[in-house]
Amino acid sequence: MPALPSVMRQVYFDGAGGPDVIRIGEAPVPAVAPGKVLVEVVAAGINGPDCVQRAGRYPAPAGESAIPGMEIAGRIIAVGEDVKDLKEGDEICALVGSGGYAEYVLADAALCLSKPKSLNLIEAAGMPETAFTVWDNVFTRGKLKAGEIFLVHGGTGGIGTTAIQLAKAFGATVITTAGSPEKCAFCKTLGADYVINYRTHDFVAEIKTITAKKGVNLVLDIVGGSYISKNISIMGTEARLVQIAFQQSSKAEVEFTPMMVRRQTLTGSTLRPRTLAQKAEVAAGVRDNVWPLVEQGKVKPIIHATFPLEDARQAHELMESSAHIGKIILLTGK
Ligand SMILES: NC(=O)c1ccc[n+]([C@@H]2O[C@H](COP(=O)([O-])OP(=O)(O)OC[C@H]3O[C@@H](n4cnc5c(N)ncnc54)[C@H](OP(=O)(O)O)[C@@H]3O)[C@@H](O)[C@H]2O)c1
Repeated sequence: MPALPSVMRQVYFDGAGGPDVIRIGEAPVPAVAPGKVLVEVVAAGINGPDCVQRAGRYPAPAGESAIPGMEIAGRIIAVGEDVKDLKEGDEICALVGSGGYAEYVLADAALCLSKPKSLNLIEAAGMPETAFTVWDNVFTRGKLKAGEIFLVHGGTGGIGTTAIQLAKAFGATVITTAGSPEKCAFCKTLGADYVINYRTHDFVAEIKTITAKKGVNLVLDIVGGSYISKNISIMGTEARLVQIAFQQSSKAEVEFTPMMVRRQTLTGSTLRPRTLAQKAEVAAGVRDNVWPLVEQGKVKPIIHATFPLEDARQAHELMESSAHIGKIILLTGK
């Protein structure tokens, strides 16, 4: 291994605001610590919460740095005490609490996943956040089973593209919503059984027809607001609603009667503030259940665009334009 540099390039936010607060600067390379590995980052995934953090509405959890970036892929260059099963030179991807938009980052060994042979490191960088989120919310929390009907809103987002592929791989019927004919067509190529352009069609009416009024078994929602009552209205008996974002609003006037009469479950979660042990449990679930499908090429990340670290501002602008399909990735040049 070549000697480690003492400083690295990293992205930071010069205050809270729009993409124009994004800067690139230098910082010391982190020192490896027990239970952790130091990773030379090749690529880092961009996620919606990075933009919300930049806008000042989603601070990094206690103990994490303010440097953005929650998922990376790269090579391990130093291994901390107590780390088993990982060694220098291993190619991995990982969920990190912060600091992914940098040339080097510390990752908890328990949250590292071997790079699947089917993917390169750029593709692998687009997997951790969506794989952890979808596995935990659709399968652990949402209990999706083969033969059930699954509705995921935002089918062309990072979450949506992963959720469609995984749900199909596990034998569910998938309905999704997207905002243009091109995006709807793309969802079909991912395997979605029914795609509804939510800008031109009422998803409630469409799903009543698709399910012959029986309703869906599980909804994964990122919209909130007016969608909460609508989701509940098209959920069947013992159906589950898992809320993972409120892109429209976290407040709504909700008609709860179907929840009571049809014994529905309303739940949700965030990932970032959970303890390491809780995240490690999700990582183990991903390793055992999702990674074999990725290795087999049945589930793959959809990479929309890559940008050099210096162009993180343009990457955030693209993310917030919603013009993308799948993931946007930053490259360190390593
Ligand atoms: N709670 C958690 O653990 C967790 C973890 C990861 C991400 N998230 C959140 O989940 C959300 C999705 O993440 P992501 O990475 O997939 O973001 P993304 O790539 O930006 O995708 C979001 C998609 O939602 C679509 N959309 C917007 N309004 C919609 C509506 N009314 N109906 C249907 N689709 C709509 C947009 O496309 P079109 O409108 O153009 O179709 C966009 O492609 C984000 O808000 C993110 O912060 C939560």
